[in-house]
Amino acid sequence: MDSAQDAGISPDDVLVTAGAAGALFIISTSLLSANDHLVVIRPNYATNIETPRAIGCAISFVDLAFEEGFAIDVERVKAALRPDTKLISVTCPHNPTGTMMSRTELDALVALAESSNCRLLVDETYRDLSYGRRLPTAASLSPKAISVSSLSKAFGIPGIRIGWLITRDAELQEKFLAAKEQIGICGSVIDEGIARGML
Ligand SMILES: Cc1ncc(COP(=O)(O)O)c(C=O)c1O
Repeated sequence: MDSAQDAGISPDDVLVTAGAAGALFIISTSLLSANDHLVVIRPNYATNIETPRAIGCAISFVDLAFEEGFAIDVERVKAALRPDTKLISVTCPHNPTGTMMSRTELDALVALAESSNCRLLVDETYRDLSYGRRLPTAASLSPKAISVSSLSKAFGIPGIRIGWLITRDAELQEKFLAAKEQIGICGSVIDEGIARGML
């Protein structure tokens, strides 16, 4: 996949999934239990809220505000962390506002995940639609960061259910692969063939 061309990412770090939605479901169900807490930077894509809610996780929301240009206040994210926080979840480029984090903000969130021993999930489904310079795919910055994207938006083929997740944590990738097998055994070879043709 395109994302595998990012510096520091190898094809083994990428797991092809049934859309970004499939990747997000794999990540929540593999990483989170009812005893865990996560921080969701909101608005966020529904799956990033409803799947953790269905699992029974405690959720703290950090709400983005129009008056602040939907900028992420990393100090507020930090203040929301708890000893049982497993995940910080954010969408960038952001749906529905179209705003993007700065490189400094992304680095700060990565550093926060590293220092708090939790994971940072960046839903990058709109990344290939960025104007100008794209942010690096978050997973390339740290084994604590997980990136998700898909062909649905930039390539305009949401009905071809092809997305992916990226992690450089090989042990975690094994877990994600096992979850993919439990959910769908493998991807649709027809969808994968069409996706390859599109790329
Ligand atoms: C931010 C975000 N993440 C994930 C998805 C799911 O995309 P996919 O069609 O790849 O499952 C969407 C679709 O609207 C989205 O907006």
